[in-house]
Amino acid sequence: MRKFKANDVFKPGSFPEHTYISRTSSEFSYSYEFRLKQALNTSGFLTSVIGPSKTGKTVLCEKVIGPNNIVSLTGSDFKHSASFWMTVANKAGLSIEGQQIQTTSTAGERLPGVSQSVSSSTMEKFVTGKDQVIEYFKENNLVLLLDDFHYASEELQLEIAQQLKDAIRKEFPAIVVSLPHRADDAIRKNPDLSGRLSLINIEPWKPDALQKIAVTGFEALGITIDPRLVEILAAESLTSPQLMQTICLNLCLLLEIDSDVSITKIEDPSTLHTAFRATTTNLPYKEIAKRFKTGPSTRGQKRKTFTLDDGEEADTYELLLKAIAIDPPSTALSLDSLKLRFDKILGDQLSKPDKNSIKKTIVQTQTIIETSDSIYQVFEWKDEVLYILEPLFLFYLRWGMH
Ligand SMILES: Nc1ncnc2c1ncn2[C@@H]1O[C@H](COP(=O)(O)OP(=O)(O)OP(=O)(O)O)[C@@H](O)[C@H]1O
Ligand SMILES: [Mg+2]
Repeated sequence: MRKFKANDVFKPGSFPEHTYISRTSSEFSYSYEFRLKQALNTSGFLTSVIGPSKTGKTVLCEKVIGPNNIVSLTGSDFKHSASFWMTVANKAGLSIEGQQIQTTSTAGERLPGVSQSVSSSTMEKFVTGKDQVIEYFKENNLVLLLDDFHYASEELQLEIAQQLKDAIRKEFPAIVVSLPHRADDAIRKNPDLSGRLSLINIEPWKPDALQKIAVTGFEALGITIDPRLVEILAAESLTSPQLMQTICLNLCLLLEIDSDVSITKIEDPSTLHTAFRATTTNLPYKEIAKRFKTGPSTRGQKRKTFTLDDGEEADTYELLLKAIAIDPPSTALSLDSLKLRFDKILGDQLSKPDKNSIKKTIVQTQTIIETSDSIYQVFEWKDEVLYILEPLFLFYLRWGMH
């Protein structure tokens, strides 16, 4: 019997108790955990955590604050008409009415939300409610986590910022978590909050930290994994701890390590490839890849195509996806390096797309991205460099069936 099951150890969707890795930011030589603790100990300040999607923002807060002391609300919890403080109180399991404070955690005893069209006497209750909430949080060492703040409308973001501004002066402990670029206005660029913010910028993951997830996890399962395979796993995970957790879990499932306790070593690279392909089956990028390959409308005209080694014909749109996908996996590709990749794919053919034609293809694809749903925002063309914004998309291009 193994001490743990694979899905206790590798947790792509929740808190990774056995594979939690602490990192240090390149800006400061302190760990993110220390920085968050420091921020939370600076009373009168609001903490703003910003970082790309799936880099461990929520997990960091859970680690530092502990599950029992977090009161977590997401941007979308505030759609309803209840007031900010009523929503927070409900979530904390605190009933607020007039002067009375009831502390309870069962949903049945909570008061229902109060609609926004309120008389002045109810307004008074809200004011009282706010103070009660602040007191309750302080007494019970609770921290308000406003997660995925970018999901709240701009109007709501400003309203919440306004409420927080006043509350943090009263030492209300709160963290606002958001994606880069989206929370700048309401929080980081809000003049009312300037000088009262602790800023924590979470960076994408580097290979050495990603490697630690695999090493720690397999060790917990009593399995040694060849360091060369760990390097490959980290390279394929790009910048995403979640991708690393998912690939490792799939590797365990494919090898049936839960039932086959005789497995003590992983050293065959081909098992990794099977795990990579298995990991792509649930990724939602099929339609997106298809759309990018089709490119903009040609009004019936046929695009110029190039013949690949295997005899397949491909136009520049299809070639672009192939160029992004080939080795080595990289999340930033300059025009020069893309040109080299096109040349590599087309081998010794005489006619190959030049840099201008590659650039035009990227610009057109960028237009498709900008005019489509947010799930299409998988890469960005900026200053002649193509940045992969969504590591999972690149992983899908490399290993998925499309
Ligand atoms: N410090 C860590 N150590 C190991 N794995 C981690 C760590 N941080 C995150 N992960 C992995 O990544 C997953 C996603 O983390 P998390 O949900 O915290 O990201 P996020 O930045 O909050 O994402 P989102 O932008 O979607 O809110 C976790 O469930 C876990 O599998
Ligand atoms: Mg999160």
